[in-house]
Amino acid sequence: MDKVWKIVKKMKYNVCHVSESGISALIKITSSCRSRCQYCLSWKTAPDILPLSEVYSIIEDIRKFAAHRIVLSGGEPTSHSDFAKIIEKCATINSHVTVITDGQYPVKSTWIPMVDEITFSIDTYSPDLYKLIRGINGLSKALENLAVAVKSGVTVSVNIVLSHQALLGLEKTVELLVNRGVSKIYFLELETHLLVSDNLIPSDNDLLIFRENLLPSLQRKYPGIVPHGKALPARDEASYKRGGTACIIPWMQMTIRPNGDLFPCCRIGDDNPESNGRTFCLGNVKEISICDVWQSIKRKRVQTLIATIPPLPCRMCAIGELFQNEDEIWNQIESIRM
Ligand SMILES: C[S@@+](CC[C@H](N)C(=O)[O-])C[C@H]1O[C@@H](n2cnc3c(N)ncnc32)[C@H](O)[C@@H]1O
Ligand code: SF4
Ligand code: SF4
Repeated sequence: MDKVWKIVKKMKYNVCHVSESGISALIKITSSCRSRCQYCLSWKTAPDILPLSEVYSIIEDIRKFAAHRIVLSGGEPTSHSDFAKIIEKCATINSHVTVITDGQYPVKSTWIPMVDEITFSIDTYSPDLYKLIRGINGLSKALENLAVAVKSGVTVSVNIVLSHQALLGLEKTVELLVNRGVSKIYFLELETHLLVSDNLIPSDNDLLIFRENLLPSLQRKYPGIVPHGKALPARDEASYKRGGTACIIPWMQMTIRPNGDLFPCCRIGDDNPESNGRTFCLGNVKEISICDVWQSIKRKRVQTLIATIPPLPCRMCAIGELFQNEDEIWNQIESIRM
């Protein structure tokens, strides 16, 4: 278990001084993106970018926490014109840095050696299905850049979003990625609180086959590459049982959107205008530091609100559901990418 999770497990729902807290910061450095993924709203939202000076002060704030890790995302983070400088700055605070990318921009020697993990989003082995899911003919470019990353020696992982199309031929996709040198493969539940095209949503049967057959067989075949642990249960709003959520994510996460808005979870602060309403916004980095937000009354109020009257993303979120069972969650915490 990494240091951020260890602190979170110990502190639970206490709000602590930053010097005693662990933070997982997801920084969406730009909303710009060339891909046109059918399950993502990023490319449909207003173009915004965090300037280098803002990113620098965010990273200086993160430095003050007892433990920290940084995920650079977006939009497409590698399209940020100052991307190499951002990575260089992260390296100065000795953070664990993950980059999540569509692999459509070059992996450069100016930044790749300073990254701890690069995660490519490649849902399928099939160029046609890739085009259908992600809206562009991008599979060969993504695989080309993945090869450069593997060659550099950095940890290379892949996110596979479990759409109906990705589940078709999933074994073939995993085999291709393992053969290309990928060292971790993460399966992400398709978040449907975003306005996802209906044709992407897996059927109950698709998910049953995945959970009962495909996942255990892939875990046996590729131990260490396909993380152990159960698959996240599928959720829809109809299955949501009234009551609060025991989810601990808002006590350890900070999501920074490309316009500087701060949210307590990447799903609540995502691109769906319904779920990034002002009610859950903790402030804006252009006006207040992350350290001040961390201990603010506003954050405490938002945490209480999420715990008692969870917003739509929580009501459709399998991660929150997992926190209902404490032992279970801590056993498979590393497979939750937060
Ligand atoms: C929003 S993207 C940003 C980084 C980069 N552009 C990329 O695609 O990897 C971060 C991750 O979220 C995933 N994602 C996007 N929309 C999703 C959804 N509706 N459900 C689950 N995962 C989603 C992407 O596939 C990617 O792995
Ligand atoms: S998932 Fe990533 S690549 Fe696809 S549209 Fe969203 S930000 Fe762009
Ligand atoms: S339940 Fe899901 S959406 Fe809600 S705070 Fe937890 S991880 Fe975020």
